[in-house]
Amino acid sequence: MKTWIDSLRREHHLPREIYHQLLTCQDADTIAYLHHQAREVALNQFGNKIYIRGLIEISNCCRNDCYYCGIRKSNINVTRYRLSKEQILDCCREGYELGFKTFVMQGGEDRAQSVDWLVDVISEIRRLYQDCAITLSLGEMQRNDYERLYQAGANRYLLRHETYDEEHYAKLHPGEMTANYRQQCLRWLKEIGFQTGTGIMVGSPFQTIDNILDDIQFIEELQPQMIGLGPFIPHHDTPFAQHQAGSIETTLKLLSIFRLMFPSILLPSTTALASLGLDGRLRGILAGANVVMPNLSPKDTRKNYELYNNKASLGAEAAEGLKLLNQQLSTIGYEISMERGDYKK
Ligand code: 5AD
Repeated sequence: MKTWIDSLRREHHLPREIYHQLLTCQDADTIAYLHHQAREVALNQFGNKIYIRGLIEISNCCRNDCYYCGIRKSNINVTRYRLSKEQILDCCREGYELGFKTFVMQGGEDRAQSVDWLVDVISEIRRLYQDCAITLSLGEMQRNDYERLYQAGANRYLLRHETYDEEHYAKLHPGEMTANYRQQCLRWLKEIGFQTGTGIMVGSPFQTIDNILDDIQFIEELQPQMIGLGPFIPHHDTPFAQHQAGSIETTLKLLSIFRLMFPSILLPSTTALASLGLDGRLRGILAGANVVMPNLSPKDTRKNYELYNNKASLGAEAAEGLKLLNQQLSTIGYEISMERGDYKK
């Protein structure tokens, strides 16, 4: 197996059946070797520096009804909110003072925050913070809407494909959503010029190893600049409340595989990983991740952006906890980078 891992590091590709063996491998030595190789590659690319992105959750209103997600339309127990332009600009100002050079605006597919409104907000952030990157994570739109957001000054877009396989996709989403349209959106985003991120939930209900192998292949074809990977975590008010959480170990293996496939890719150690275990964030970094996305949302709205049970948003997860995050990183020999951290091939 170690020879195959060396080959992945050299050639950035493995036969499908070897990915399968890696994902099911239980041998502690082999797994440690995989993480070690991935971590070395990340260190060669980025040194011991971890990029930070300030996450602003701009709305928890959503027209979609994804079976896994806590802010799905049918969940009547959510206190819905949408941030005003002024609130978002306040978050940016606070973030900029803390040293953030990337603002990530994430939200449900809330059509009340229209594209016109988004263009206005993005233009203002672009005008005020010319040295910052603006990342959007606002779901599916039409191509010309994405184009308008790009022209307004957004640079990056995150849209996880969630799962490549049509049938699996249909088990996670109601009929009006399709795997095909989501993948189309990702191709548009890339064509338009966004630094584009995709990704999956690891261990989502009904996911098979074969599904993950399809995801690896899709990501290899798409060639994204970022990959977001987190374990599925059930939310108590969704149809998947009784399903098991995804495995931390499989998530870490996938982080390492993607680091070896794409040495310079931007790979966050995600909030979901941090939410499942106290050391999840650090383990992600030791497996090859190089980005963290602390929460910059107004403190009183954070609890309402609950995508899954016990989603972390305090302490080192919070933008105001950067010092704590840096302390934690220092225990494994890493530190926060204050750079903007664009994708560089
Ligand atoms: N568990 C883990 N991740 C989730 N997401 C949504 N709901 C859950 C959940 N229950 C992820 C999706 C989405 C991202 C914003 O959050 O992958 O793309």
